[in-house]
Amino acid sequence: MGIAIILITRLMVIPHTTLQKDANRITESRKFIIPIKHTKHLMVSAFIDHRFIETIRVISIIKRDSLQPLYCICCSDDVCHSVKAVVQIYRDHFGFAFGASDMLCQGKDIQNATHVAVSTTANISDVHNMDFLPIKNRVEHETFRFNFTVCVSSLFGAYNNVLQFAQTMEMYKLLGVQHVVIYNTSCGPDLEKLLQHYRREGILEVVPWPIDQFLTPSTGWDSKRHSGELQYYGQLVTLNECIYRNMYQSRYILLNDIDEIIMPKKHANLSLLMETLQPKHRNVGVFIIENQIFPKTVFEETGLFKRPKWKNIPGVNILEHIYKEPDTAKIFNPAKMIVDPRSVVQISVHNPVKVLKDIYRVPVNVSYVIHMRVPRQKGLTKKQLLVDIRVWDFEKQLVANVDQALESSGIQKN
Ligand SMILES: *[C@@H]1O[C@H](CO)[C@@H](O)[C@H](O)[C@H]1NC(C)=O
Ligand SMILES: *[C@@H]1O[C@H](CO)[C@@H](O)[C@H](O)[C@H]1NC(C)=O
Ligand SMILES: *[C@@H]1O[C@H](CO)[C@@H](O)[C@H](O)[C@H]1NC(C)=O
Ligand SMILES: *[C@@H]1O[C@H](CO)[C@@H](O)[C@H](O)[C@H]1NC(C)=O
Ligand SMILES: *[C@@H]1O[C@H](CO)[C@@H](O)[C@H](O)[C@H]1NC(C)=O
Ligand SMILES: *[C@@H]1O[C@H](CO)[C@@H](O)[C@H](O)[C@H]1NC(C)=O
Repeated sequence: MGIAIILITRLMVIPHTTLQKDANRITESRKFIIPIKHTKHLMVSAFIDHRFIETIRVISIIKRDSLQPLYCICCSDDVCHSVKAVVQIYRDHFGFAFGASDMLCQGKDIQNATHVAVSTTANISDVHNMDFLPIKNRVEHETFRFNFTVCVSSLFGAYNNVLQFAQTMEMYKLLGVQHVVIYNTSCGPDLEKLLQHYRREGILEVVPWPIDQFLTPSTGWDSKRHSGELQYYGQLVTLNECIYRNMYQSRYILLNDIDEIIMPKKHANLSLLMETLQPKHRNVGVFIIENQIFPKTVFEETGLFKRPKWKNIPGVNILEHIYKEPDTAKIFNPAKMIVDPRSVVQISVHNPVKVLKDIYRVPVNVSYVIHMRVPRQKGLTKKQLLVDIRVWDFEKQLVANVDQALESSGIQKN
């Protein structure tokens, strides 16, 4: 009795060389999501969080109504320590049974750990090699591989909106984006070819996201309207994972959906935009960018960009949709964000939740989100919509680059 209590309440030190060696080998080849044994919870990724003292952050998915005490088993080359996990379920769970969560493992003995498992007991013998995640972000950097990374949350179903995806990727390249991360549950056959093309090109990182093998994700964000166990294929989990994954890789991260482009209104690209904004707002880490809705049901009438070459390419042609809905006091426009990831602790879909710096709402005459979707304000006539031809400014290069991407990916014959 006495021994058991001591073992659970104090840090446990167990040399475990073989376990560790195997854990290294196995986690390399493992899938991305790991179930926590004897629970319904899942863990996704582990990072050292240098902004807090002696902290390892494990991004996870928690069954909200059955949270029991959990322990982090943190191992380095030759030793494992277990500490009690501090579970912080994100406030935005949208009513679903499962919620995005952080589990914090804290203590000075775990500083050198390279792998972590989460367990219902502090007893190391209960954990197997397969249960470990590698601990990432071991080293802080102050120079970055990329200036701009775009994080796109989960791709699912038979999504095959090829033309819009190619146009969006090429637009982002023209705007100065060097890295795009996308979480892939599944997609349509042509989009698959395009993903492979951009991955070969080096700009796209496709993260496997087989969430549907572990629970039933919902296809929408609201549990009252969409059934399922987790909001929108785990959108909050992937967005936050992407922030930590790129924390020391990218100066800025753009968080937006696959059908959205964060567009500077006057600046030629994102570098010029941020070189203007950041010095004016030195202590800002989150720039909120407002959406403007371009209904994909409304077309410009000259047919200028109805190109025969694209006739058989599935998807929306963003160059054909130049009408946008006006602002009204009645409808609140949702927003997306450009963030300095090192200032973000936790983020939701449209707003930051925990940040270490200030937040600034960027005026729509400086930057806005071009969001092409079904109409939001229903029943507006063309006359009531506003014309916005900003995407045409990129027309020449955009068209040529999209053609090239469609050819290289084998979707369009030369
Ligand atoms: C971590 O590793 C460093 C360098 O090897 C060592 O000096 C330090 O004592 C280790 N810390 C712990 C808590 O094991
Ligand atoms: C830990 O688990 C092992 C194997 O299940 C068991 O033999 C051992 O007694 C346990 N230790 C404690 C302190 O509960
Ligand atoms: C990022 O932008 C800076 C100037 O703002 C530039 O010097 C640097 O080369 C850019 N880095 C990359 C990877 O493009
Ligand atoms: C942004 O635009 C400026 C001015 O046209 C250009 O000098 C710069 O190279 C561009 N930067 C990127 C990253 O495209
Ligand atoms: C996306 O996921 C599906 C389903 O697992 C897989 O078949 C496909 O190859 C993946 N695509 C890429 C580019 O990784
Ligand atoms: C944006 O609009 C505001 C007024 O709404 C104006 O003061 C500001 O000068 C405008 N900025 C630009 C870049 O046009």
